[in-house]
Amino acid sequence: MWKCSLPAAALLLATACTQYPSGGSLRLHTDMAEQPGFRAQENPRALPPGAVARDWDAPLSPEAAAKLKNPEPAGEAAVAQGKTLFRVYCTPCHGASGKGDGTVASKITRPADLTSAKYAASGDGFLYQAIREGSGLMPPQAESLSNRERWQVVHYLRSLQKP
Ligand code: HEC
Repeated sequence: MWKCSLPAAALLLATACTQYPSGGSLRLHTDMAEQPGFRAQENPRALPPGAVARDWDAPLSPEAAAKLKNPEPAGEAAVAQGKTLFRVYCTPCHGASGKGDGTVASKITRPADLTSAKYAASGDGFLYQAIREGSGLMPPQAESLSNRERWQVVHYLRSLQKP
């Protein structure tokens, strides 16, 4: 048989009950509303002072872009990876062959023929900048492709341009 002294019961009750943060009713258990996670619409945590972005895409001047060299080592792996990315992000407009005959092409200005002599003669940095910042009607692809991936796509474009 249970015997319970009054002070012990009061102590038990005091530790088991908490005030719900929004005020109001007394609840026996805390629930998911009380957790350190972000709430809907709440701003993410502010950056610590002095934080430096690792992969920040400041707009490039055409002169600065022209000087860029492709830091991604050339080779089959880079071309294969570039091809996979091109198929996802560029083919809808530029077409699988890169000639500007993608399915979206008929709905907008005809996208550039990336296999043309003009783009074969342009520098890696020019192609990289076009991917990153867009050009004319072409939207920037900076959010879809990481820095490394953009250079892999440049390698693939070079392979498309080979006769
Ligand atoms: C929404 C359609 C669309 C997508 C997606 C797209 N492009 Fe384009 N791209 C265009 C159009 C349209 C042009 C021609 C721009 C103009 O003349 O206004 C163009 C032009 C270009 C140029 C030439 C830029 C210049 O200044 O001459 C390059 C290089 C290029 N695209 C590469 C790519 C690559 C690589 C991808 C994928 C990572 C890509 N584009 C994705 C539509 C697109």
